[in-house]
Amino acid sequence: ICSINSEKERTLAMIKPDGLLGNYTDDIKKIIIGSGFNIVRELTVQLDEENVTLFYAEHSAKGFFPNLIRYMTSGPVLAMVLEKRNAISDWRALIGPTDAKQAKISHPNSIRAMCGSSSERNCVHGSDSQQSAAREISFFFGDIPPETLKHDEL
Ligand code: PPS
Repeated sequence: ICSINSEKERTLAMIKPDGLLGNYTDDIKKIIIGSGFNIVRELTVQLDEENVTLFYAEHSAKGFFPNLIRYMTSGPVLAMVLEKRNAISDWRALIGPTDAKQAKISHPNSIRAMCGSSSERNCVHGSDSQQSAAREISFFFGDIPPETLKHDEL
């Protein structure tokens, strides 16, 4: 049981305000489940300026940061912990490039092509490394015990 579980990886996925407002949640979840991810945790939450500043701390010096804060506090987000083998890179591949306008051209089947519209309003987030996945998961959910596989998967 432990060896099965330890091969899995977890990533933090987030549906951003434009995704929730545009009612893309069900379509996105269908893609997530259909791609073999297990949704280990989920949480809908309204972030405030302090939350966004902490979550996106590495981008705080960027010119777009005030816009990013305004956008990410404009409505609720849905945070999810996704689990499968290669969860981090597979989720990043599914969502496509940061700039959703570019994604519509270069990755037309990606999630951002489906529901995003720009680099700012790009509908979804995915952790970019094991280190950020660990940080971002604990940002929303604290420590999660490893024994979260459903019984029928053991
Ligand atoms: S960078 O500069 O390459 O490190 O930034 P990037 O990885 O492309 O994007 C980091 C997050 O910032 C958001 N972003 C923006 N927000 C508002 N306006 C503009 N112009 C903009 N450009 C990038 C982008 O959506 C990224 O968020 P996540 O959640 O990581 O996709």
